[in-house]
Amino acid sequence: MDICVVKDYEEMSKKAADFIADMIVKKPDGVLGLATGSTPVGTYKNLVSMYEAGKLDFSRLTTVNLDEYKGLKRSHDQSYYFFMHDNLFDHVNLRPDASFLPDGSKDDAESECKAYERKVASLGYADLQLLGIGRNGHIGFNEPADDFAVATHCVNLTESTIDANKRFFASIDDVPKQAYTMGIGTIMKAKRILILASGADKAEAIKNSCFGPVTPKVPASILQFHPDVTVICDEAAYSLCK
Ligand code: GLP
Repeated sequence: MDICVVKDYEEMSKKAADFIADMIVKKPDGVLGLATGSTPVGTYKNLVSMYEAGKLDFSRLTTVNLDEYKGLKRSHDQSYYFFMHDNLFDHVNLRPDASFLPDGSKDDAESECKAYERKVASLGYADLQLLGIGRNGHIGFNEPADDFAVATHCVNLTESTIDANKRFFASIDDVPKQAYTMGIGTIMKAKRILILASGADKAEAIKNSCFGPVTPKVPASILQFHPDVTVICDEAAYSLCK
C-alpha cells in the first residue's frame, strides 16, 4: 500500500482528482470504478473543473459504481444514481449509456446482483476503483462480517452505517436498511485501487485497515493483499497511525 498523507480535505480532493485524471489520460477508454458518500464530492468537483478547462475528456470512458440502496427509485434524491448524476455525470461528457450502477428499485435481489456482477465482469472489471471508507472499515457496502463476500450481493446495513447516513434523510426510519454492493472479490479484481479518507472519525478505520490484521471484521483490511493500492488521507484520518 502506498500511503500519502495530506493536510486536509481540499488537498486530498485535489490529489485524488489528479490521480484519476492521470488514469483517464493514459487509458481514455478505460473503466473507472466510482464511489459515493461525502468523501469523493471534492474529487468530483475537481474533475468537473478539469473537464470545463478542457483538460479532460470522458467521452470514451465507462464507469461502474460500487453500490446502491435497495428500495430507492433512481429518481430519489438520496439514491446513488441521483448522487452520481448530480456530482459528476451531468457535468462531464460521459456517454449516457456508459455509466453503470446496481438498480436499487429492482426487488429481486439475486437477479439484480447477478446481472450487475456479469456487467462489471463483461467490462473486464475496473482499471481504477475509487473507494471511500466507512467508520467501521466498510468499503462499498461490505459491512464487517464473518466472511469476505465475493461477488455483488444484497447486504443488511449495520446500525453504525444507518446512523452515519441518517443525516441525508428526513428521519432515521427513512434510511434504507439494505443495499446492493459489489463484493470484496469484485473490488479486489480492479487493477488499481485508490482509497480516500478525511477526518478524525475515519482514523480508527484507517489504522485498522492499513496496519491491523486482515479480517472480514474490518473489510478494508483485505486491501493489504491487493498489489496496487494508494491511500490518500488527511492528517486527521491518519492521526492514529503515528
Ligand atoms: C457509504 C458508501 C461508501 C462510503 C461510505 C463513507 O456507506 N456506501 O461507499 O465510502 O458511505 O461515506 P462518507 O464518505 O460520507 O464518510
